[in-house]
Amino acid sequence: MLDPCTILIFGSTGNLVSIKLLPALYHIEAAERLHPETRIIGFGRRPWSDEDWREEVRARLAERLPGATHAPVLERLLGRMRFVEGDLEESAGYVRLSERLRGETDFPANLMTYLAVAPKHYGGIVDNLAAQGLNAEDGRWSRLVVEKPFGFDLESAAILDRRIQRCFGESQIFRIDHYLGKSTVQNILVFRFANLMLEPLWNRNYIDHVQISHAESAGIGERAGFYDGVGAMRDMIQSHLLQMLTLVAMEPPPCLDAEALRDEKVKVLRSIRPIPREAVHAQAFRAQYGPGASGGSKVAGYRDEPGVGHNSTTETYASLKLYIDNWRWRNVPFYLRTGKRLARSNSLIAIRFKHPPQQLFRYTAIEQLKPNWLLLNIQPNECIRMEIQVKQPGLEMRTQTERLDASRCTIPSEQIDAYEALILDVIEGDHTHFLRFDEVDWAWRVVDPVLKLWSTERDFIQTYPAGSCGPPEANRLFDRDDQSWREGMDA
Ligand code: BG6
Repeated sequence: MLDPCTILIFGSTGNLVSIKLLPALYHIEAAERLHPETRIIGFGRRPWSDEDWREEVRARLAERLPGATHAPVLERLLGRMRFVEGDLEESAGYVRLSERLRGETDFPANLMTYLAVAPKHYGGIVDNLAAQGLNAEDGRWSRLVVEKPFGFDLESAAILDRRIQRCFGESQIFRIDHYLGKSTVQNILVFRFANLMLEPLWNRNYIDHVQISHAESAGIGERAGFYDGVGAMRDMIQSHLLQMLTLVAMEPPPCLDAEALRDEKVKVLRSIRPIPREAVHAQAFRAQYGPGASGGSKVAGYRDEPGVGHNSTTETYASLKLYIDNWRWRNVPFYLRTGKRLARSNSLIAIRFKHPPQQLFRYTAIEQLKPNWLLLNIQPNECIRMEIQVKQPGLEMRTQTERLDASRCTIPSEQIDAYEALILDVIEGDHTHFLRFDEVDWAWRVVDPVLKLWSTERDFIQTYPAGSCGPPEANRLFDRDDQSWREGMDA
């Protein structure tokens, strides 16, 4: 059984809490993983009683998990819920919070504080928590969970980290990147390091290039307040996509403990060739969705989404070409891409192997044998697929592509939610799937030159129709004509 603790959530009325945290807490409750004494406090400006907050949680879960909530589980979860009214920036709410925590016997001393708010509030919150002594670990633990993006750029991330570290030590801080909690993302490590047959091939001698792509059919919805001005590079590439890149590219760690793993990931990030200003346009691309169609209905362009400025040049699509300057990967391009309002939702790591040195099975001078691909599909379905060439049935020595699928194909990734795994890791004090600050810092160093140049080019942004495969111009990042994006497992 896990330690009893008080889970304190900032940003309780926000999107992340509704979409991810509450459903994750519900599933953890259903799996009976929480200690019976664990309590959950929402902190926010609304003048809510505990009962109001419970009704709010009930309504949001009904919306998020329609028909899927089981009454006894829901009642158990609601029974843990409390609410404290307070403004994020003002001490009065924190005094109330602290009085309540100390004055009522109901709350376990261990404290997990979850910052599901914009990074601009982190500093104020940690200062206020520290002023009430809620950061102290005297006979209990006090852990801080910080959401991404950690800062707005390289400089602000360093300032933010110094501010947080004045109040919380590194061992108390859990910088979350929920992709590290996804089962298929964790499976990259197992697949690579539990199968010896891959290792001899996993390098510049055999791999032509790597694609890491995250496409979403949804637009920004109601998140303009967060998203506008942040954009796809900060929202997805600096964090989730670079994390996946480190897992694909890292050397085997000496063991699986958090430090060993993170040391290896940092080495990859440090080896990424810096992008000089004059190479930004050749190695990075951005665009924004215009009006179009999604799921058979017309949808608005980004600039017409509620809360977005009419002249906004925030990118909703970004792609990046990177090189890792080490012995294993030198000159192998890694292509990263993400976009909203694309034709379909899919996250895929696609590894293309080189052609055999001699093309025996060719019928015309220009015909090329199809390359081997290794596909690691993150979502919507978890699947590892190898595409290989075999002989076509019949008399001729012609080849055809066959797919070897790992059986996890059948498990919809929604069943194993990343946030559930990560919340449990925090309660267990396990940092393995959380970021150390040097990882965040080096990830910012990778994207910073691109963001700096883009910030000076704010008068124009290319558009693509909502519901399309993205702008064809994004293909200019590819080194050769025979390279292009894999649009999902089957395309
Ligand atoms: C979040 C981004 O971190 O990840 C969102 O802020 C994005 O913009 C989301 O939609 C994607 O996560 P998932 O788990 O739905 O693929």
